[in-house]
Amino acid sequence: MTKSIPHYVEASNECTLFEQAFKNKLPLLLKGPTGCGKTRFVSHMAARLGLPLYTVSCHDDLTAADLTGRYLLKGGDTVWTDGPLTRAVREGGICYLDEVVEARKDVTVVLHPLTDDRRVLPLDRTGEELVAPDNFMLVVSYNPGYQNVMKSLKPSTRQRFLGVEFDFPELELETKIIAGESGLEEDRVRPLVRLANKLREMKGQDLEEGVSTRLIVYCASLIKAGMTVDAAVLHAMIEPLTDEPDVKEGLLEVVRVTFG
Ligand SMILES: Nc1ncnc2c1ncn2[C@@H]1O[C@H](COP(=O)(O)OP(=O)(O)OP(=O)(O)O)[C@@H](O)[C@H]1O
Ligand SMILES: [Mg+2]
Repeated sequence: MTKSIPHYVEASNECTLFEQAFKNKLPLLLKGPTGCGKTRFVSHMAARLGLPLYTVSCHDDLTAADLTGRYLLKGGDTVWTDGPLTRAVREGGICYLDEVVEARKDVTVVLHPLTDDRRVLPLDRTGEELVAPDNFMLVVSYNPGYQNVMKSLKPSTRQRFLGVEFDFPELELETKIIAGESGLEEDRVRPLVRLANKLREMKGQDLEEGVSTRLIVYCASLIKAGMTVDAAVLHAMIEPLTDEPDVKEGLLEVVRVTFG
C-alpha cells in the first residue's frame, strides 16, 4: 500500500528547489509567517521523496542532547538512546527543526559540522562520528516576524542553508488551496480571502501577525459545516488575532466594510 501524500499546492518553484537541495545534499531553511504552509510543505516533500520525517518543535529549553540523544537508565543499565537528529542521520530521512531560532545556542554546535561539506554528526558522549548518508536532509524553519535580535540565527549558521521565503499566496491560489482543504466552493471562499487580505493590511499597526491561511481554512470549514458566515468569521478570523477590545472593534469594522 502506498501512503497518501499530504496535499500541497505549490506557490512558486519550492518543490523543485527542495528536490534539488535533497539531490545536492544541501540543507534548507524555510521562513515565513505562521500558518502559511511550511509544515505541510515539508510533510508533502518527505512523502514525495519517500523519506521518513523526524520533526522537532524547538523551544528555549531544547538542548543539543535533546536532538542527539543521551544515556538513559533502563533496568539498572545505562543505555544510549538516539535523539531524533541522530536517528535521521543513522537511518536516513529528513530531520525538520521547526522554530529553530528558539533552540538553545549549543544546538548550533551540532548543526554546523552536519550542514557543511563534512556532513558529520559528532557524538561526544559515545565517541562516535556519524557520517550522514546521501538520503539525509536537514530542514529548519522559523518565523522572522516575531523573532528578536537575540534569537536570530548567526550568519555562520544561516549561511550553511539554502533559503526559501514563504508568504500568503495571491488571491486565486489561496482561494483554491482553502477550497481544497475545506470543501467549501471557491465562490464562497474568495470573499473570505479578500477579507483576510484587508485584515492583513493591519499587520504592524495593531496586529503582530496577519490572518493565516490556516485560520481561513478553519473559517471555511465552519461555514461548510453550516455555521453562519458572521459567526465563522468572528471565531476563526477575529478572536484568534487579538485580545484588545479596540483592535477587535477595528477588525470588525473592516469586516463590515468588506462584506457591506
Ligand atoms: N500551499 C498549501 N497547500 C495546501 N494547504 C496549505 C498550503 N498552505 C497552507 N495550507 C493549509 O494551511 C494549514 C497551515 O499550514 P502549516 O501548518 O503548514 O503552516 P506553518 O507555516 O507550518 O505554520 P506555523 O509556522 O504556525 O507552524 C495547513 O494545514 C493547510 O490546511
Ligand atoms: Mg508549522
